[in-house]
Amino acid sequence: MIDIFIFSQQYQVPEGLTILKAFEWAGFKLTHGVGCRGGFCGACGTVFRHQRDYRLHYALACQTVVEPGMILTQIPFFPAQHPSYDLNALKADGLTLLGIYPETLSCFGCNTCTKSCPQDIDVLGYISAALRGDLADLADISFDCIMCGLCVARCPAEIVPPNISLLGRRLYGRYLAPTAGHLHKRVQEIEAGTFQEAISELKTLTIGELKARYSQREIEA
Ligand code: SF4
Ligand code: SF4
Ligand code: FES
Repeated sequence: MIDIFIFSQQYQVPEGLTILKAFEWAGFKLTHGVGCRGGFCGACGTVFRHQRDYRLHYALACQTVVEPGMILTQIPFFPAQHPSYDLNALKADGLTLLGIYPETLSCFGCNTCTKSCPQDIDVLGYISAALRGDLADLADISFDCIMCGLCVARCPAEIVPPNISLLGRRLYGRYLAPTAGHLHKRVQEIEAGTFQEAISELKTLTIGELKARYSQREIEA
C-alpha cells in the first residue's frame, strides 16, 4: 500500500493502480472526468505534485500509475470558445483560422501548453503553424490531440489550442489533403451495391464460420 493525497485528503491505495483506479479505490464515484479508460477520450486530465517538488505535473488519470506521496486533483471543466462555422463555406487558409479564433494572435510563445500536454504534442509548434497559416503542418503536429483541455487550463493568453487545431484539421481534411483514390473507388462501389449480396450472405453465417472466413481472408500486400 502507498500513501497518496486526493483533493488534499490522505488515502492508502495499492501500489500499481492507475490514478483513475486509485480515485475509485479511495471511494470516489467518478461521474465526470472519466470516459474511455483507454487514453483516447481526453476526459480524465489530472494535475499533480510530488511532495517537496514545486513543479506541477499533468497526466491522463487512466494512463498514469500512482506513486507514493502524489498530491492529486482532477481539472474542472473550462468553458471554451465554440464559435459556429459552416465548413463548406470556409476558405482553407490561415486567415480563416485567425478570423474565427483571433485570440490565437495573443500567443506569446511561453510554451506552457507544450509542457502540460500528456500526449507530448508540440502545442506551441501547432499554434505557430496556425499563425503561419500552414494548415498541413498544423494538422500533422496536432494529429494526436485528444482534447483533454490541460493546455487550455494552463495557457496564460486564454487560448484554446485544441479547438483551433480541430478547425485546422477540418480545413485540411476537407480542402487540402490529397484524395485517397482507392478509398474513393471503394465508397463508389459500396454505394452502387457491389457488395450487397456478399454482406447478406455474411449475415447468415455462424460465429464459427465467420471466424474461419476471417482467418482465411486475403491480406493486401
Ligand atoms: S494539445 Fe492540449 S487538449 Fe490536446 S492532448 Fe495536448 S494538452 Fe490535451
Ligand atoms: S500556453 Fe498559450 S501563450 Fe503560451 S505558447 Fe501555448 S498557446 Fe501560446
Ligand atoms: S478516461 Fe478517456 S482518456 Fe482517460
